Amino acid sequence: MNSNEIVEINKQKNYIKKIKKHIDNIELKTGKKQKYFVFTTGCQMNAHESEKLSGILEEMGYVASDKEENADFVIYNTCCIRENAEDKIYGRLGRLKHYKNEKNKNMKIALCGCMTQQDVVIQKLQQSYKYLDIVFGTFNIHKLPELLYTSLKSEETSTIFDIWKEHKEIVEDMPILREYKYKASVNIMFGCNNYCTYCIVPYVRGRERSRNYKDIIFEIENLVSDGVKEITLLGQNVNSYGKNLENPITFAQLLNKINNIKGLERIRFMTSHPKDLSDELIETIKNCNKVCKYIHLPIQSGSTKILKKMNRGYTKENYIELINKIKDSIPNIMISTDIIVGFPGETEEDFQDTLDIIKKVKFSNAFTFIYSKRTGTPAATMTEQIPENIIKDRFDRLLNVLNPIINEINNKQVGKIYDILVEDISKQDENILTGRADNNSIVHFKGKKELIGNIVKVRIVDNKTFYLIGERI
Ligand code: 5AD
Ligand code: SF4
Repeated sequence: MNSNEIVEINKQKNYIKKIKKHIDNIELKTGKKQKYFVFTTGCQMNAHESEKLSGILEEMGYVASDKEENADFVIYNTCCIRENAEDKIYGRLGRLKHYKNEKNKNMKIALCGCMTQQDVVIQKLQQSYKYLDIVFGTFNIHKLPELLYTSLKSEETSTIFDIWKEHKEIVEDMPILREYKYKASVNIMFGCNNYCTYCIVPYVRGRERSRNYKDIIFEIENLVSDGVKEITLLGQNVNSYGKNLENPITFAQLLNKINNIKGLERIRFMTSHPKDLSDELIETIKNCNKVCKYIHLPIQSGSTKILKKMNRGYTKENYIELINKIKDSIPNIMISTDIIVGFPGETEEDFQDTLDIIKKVKFSNAFTFIYSKRTGTPAATMTEQIPENIIKDRFDRLLNVLNPIINEINNKQVGKIYDILVEDISKQDENILTGRADNNSIVHFKGKKELIGNIVKVRIVDNKTFYLIGERI
């Protein structure tokens, strides 16, 4: 951390202390604990940032509320990658207004995350969502203590807006409340420089910047001494990790260093971009015993013409070549992907190319999306937007091709013996445990909850398409 970062973190920690006094006073007067509720939409990056928000709030003396209507402080950490993610937030905010008016006039409401980095959203909030107390963005979540303190002490009811247009310091070492005891996410970089033409991320998360590898290693060592066995390294494009550091280092070199951390069992990472997945990285995944044999490698489309319009930087043939190289080098590896249907200009022939590549690659899983027009991205102004009924029809046909392939891959796993990191008990049955194999397959099997956090040997006995059934051996 540089001196600015240390000054900033100490400032925020001071605000945490001041709020704690305030919260303790309320508890003394009312006999009630102040409660918080964090609602998160979007990717693992947002989920991880919500862990940080929760950690800060707990340090202030707030306790988690099971329902948002009973909370004294509600934060929505938002996603804007597709339009329906935003619509859901607006709908929820409407309900929250009702709770604030009817049940708890002192309720504080904050909105943060990717949505708030867009000017159109800010305008809408200023016009129609005046009951919000605090709105902050993706570059300053560490400022929550200062913003909340200002809001709690202010006589005015107007919304505090604090949106930065770009990143300043990377603030390390703020409190965190991790969702799982045995697995954890670790940011290795922020932002994205790729400018895929459909994607809003570079506009709301800024330019790529990598964390210093020593800070990353230090964080992981601490997590391991806290009982963490599996870490997931997070970045929008992990393959370009380290390129813009003062002393550049590659993602593969980082993995090698992390692989040497004693006590750590598993390393996962996401997301990789096909255009710059290096041979060095393939070798590293193969040779590092802790790096899981699983890659999430978004293809987006199987049509070279559409990939070009998307600015993805590879062709259909490049992608297939890359997959073959990976599979030749690491035979049991599982590969999952993201696919967008209905990008502007996508013809039936382009769509057939997508189906073709799915059949050729045989993904173990795929996240499928209907193209969503995002204001401010180049694709939003492209002509030849595809009518909804055509997109829906393609989307259905896509799933009809994809699901039998996922099923086929999973059938081949029946009979195999895997090490499973036990994550939780099943939501339906407390005698059933759920965990993941190294290759990211989800496995359900009978067992006692004391096993959570352990790695156990399980034989796969059945396939339920989106998860496997196992038996402990
Ligand atoms: N419309 C639909 N899907 C999108 N994604 C990103 N932007 C859009 C959009 N505008 C998908 C991509 C990406 C995943 C995280 O979300 O497939 O890999
Ligand atoms: Fe978006 Fe492309 Fe960056 Fe992924 S690589 S975050 S899809 S711009």
